[in-house]
Amino acid sequence: MSTTAKPASVPVITVDGPAGVGKGTLTKRLAAIYGFHYLDSGAVYRALASQVLARSLVPEQLDEIVHLATQLALSFPPEHDYQTMLGNNIIEADIRTETCSAMASKIAAQQPIREQLLALQKSFQRAPGLVCDGRDMGTVVFPQAQVKIFLDASCQERAQRRYKQLIDQGISANFAHLFDSISARDQLDRSRAHSPLVAAEGAWVIDSTEMTIEEVIGAATDYIKRSL
Ligand code: DC
Repeated sequence: MSTTAKPASVPVITVDGPAGVGKGTLTKRLAAIYGFHYLDSGAVYRALASQVLARSLVPEQLDEIVHLATQLALSFPPEHDYQTMLGNNIIEADIRTETCSAMASKIAAQQPIREQLLALQKSFQRAPGLVCDGRDMGTVVFPQAQVKIFLDASCQERAQRRYKQLIDQGISANFAHLFDSISARDQLDRSRAHSPLVAAEGAWVIDSTEMTIEEVIGAATDYIKRSL
């Protein structure tokens, strides 16, 4: 009787958590450390939102948006510091505007759009491995992931970090406004009907409120070493 060895599945590390918690910094560093592919799922929703805006569609035009979602040629190449590329263009700046953020959260609340984007997100699971960041990576998109991390921090701390980041970039910022907008996004992400933000079962929850990014990376790599 011949025995066929089952190929080991390509490892996936998921990092979920609320807006502004530092998932992007952590996941890009992990992708570089392990030489894994990278998926910023927020950028997937943002890239689709940018296409919706470019075509002057409204979120209610679901069929058109679902069709657009079938044509998103996205990548996050390490040679471009894991920035978001659509075809041959780096679209990082376009997708981070307030208008694009607002459209992204509207379309992310629509189940047919989430379903259409599932296959695209799953296609990033390629050898030697994947590090991905988002809200539902460990719960919905990669429930079989070998490593699941839920990165959290208080709303106050996340607003403070964002404030510092903007001031350091020479951009004027209002702390109270940032705090309110982060709280509002939290509320939307945690309470929506489809794929709400929750820690996946078995996820390692890390509260980074009192930690530096280097401490978070150190704790995460220790955890991954024990899990992979
Ligand atoms: O993480 P971000 O701010 O780039 O995400 C942009 C929007 O997409 C935000 O409204 C949350 C949503 N999102 C989502 O619904 N599911 C994900 N896996 C990632 C992001």
